[in-house]
Amino acid sequence: MSKLSELLKCSFVAAALAAGFSGDVLAGLNPDQFASGFVWRDTDGNPIDAHGGCVLSWQGVYYWYGETKTGRTFLPDCNKSWGGTRVDMAGVGCYSSTNLYDWKNEGLVLAPVAGAASDLNSGNVVERPKVVFNRNSKRFVMWMHIDSADYHEARLGVAVSEKPTGPFQYLGSFRPDAGVWPINVADADNTAGKGKYLARDFQNGQMARDMTVFVDDDGKAYVFYSSEENFTMHVSLLTDDYLRTTGKYSRILIGRSREAPAVFKHNAQYYLITSGSTGWDPNTAGAAVANSIFGPWKELGNPCIGPNADKTFLGQSSFVLPLPGSNTFIFIADLWKKWDLSNSRYLWLPLEFGGDGKPVVMWRDNWSLSVAKTANKNQDTSSDP
Ligand code: GAL
Repeated sequence: MSKLSELLKCSFVAAALAAGFSGDVLAGLNPDQFASGFVWRDTDGNPIDAHGGCVLSWQGVYYWYGETKTGRTFLPDCNKSWGGTRVDMAGVGCYSSTNLYDWKNEGLVLAPVAGAASDLNSGNVVERPKVVFNRNSKRFVMWMHIDSADYHEARLGVAVSEKPTGPFQYLGSFRPDAGVWPINVADADNTAGKGKYLARDFQNGQMARDMTVFVDDDGKAYVFYSSEENFTMHVSLLTDDYLRTTGKYSRILIGRSREAPAVFKHNAQYYLITSGSTGWDPNTAGAAVANSIFGPWKELGNPCIGPNADKTFLGQSSFVLPLPGSNTFIFIADLWKKWDLSNSRYLWLPLEFGGDGKPVVMWRDNWSLSVAKTANKNQDTSSDP
């Protein structure tokens, strides 16, 4: 860990950490500081409403996509098999920024659709939208988790747009990799019975819930998703147009029940941060590293340091944003408010690499990009152990 990081560690302010929800007094993005847990307002002064999302950097502009969570939170229905809280699905929103602090609301880029037949009906689930740019088609492709209100459908959805600000044309949803075994299927023999879901869903396609998309340096893209009743994660190669899965996939973190994947690359290695599987409630984050994107992935333990580090600072991973032309990464997470989902907040913290080469996310009450850049620079050149 760098000396700067050690210094920053001493600057925790316990009060703000207690819950990460210290009130609405401070605008978290004002004017050049990230303060996790506070209300972050857009350039119109409205709270930013983009959860479980991602940030795409394209032609000098950042686009922040996320679940629009307006409306009343419905409390659990104990008569149903799945008893979580939810809001009506209100589509996917987009904000743009040139500095990551000031966000202009670009409106809904994928709107709900009336009628029970549509995946995008407000009674369904559309979560964790991830948008990537396809160099071949020059189009923007959005992948997302599509589900029924009780989460039994477990599908991937795809939409496409000519512009980053939409509108995205919804192409439909599907269960990936039907009729093909993963490239490391032999591992199924070692999963204490949990590989049975892989076999169960072989014919009709694998379950897909929490997900992300990663585009490698060579332009190949992969979707990572929690599968097999959320026990095991899959990595699937996408077609060159990014609109389908190819059928080449592997099982990773087998039987580990990981969710909320966020993938990035550093020094030619792939990194993956995930959460545990406890719904909207926070749990311990886990990092993993691999030389090949299909694995094997080696688990590195919890990357978080600071108060509530065993609960991801009360958040859940959503995305890791590499800042172009630097070694700086931002760990992006959701601070879900389970009983008031529309009021959920954001957690953005610098992600550094420790002397042991492991990713580290250290709590900071507030920080600016210059701090992150310095920290990473120090890390890269430091001879500290
Ligand atoms: C979490 C998941 C969220 C949402 C939630 C519903 O495990 O990461 O995206 O689906 O469950 O309870």
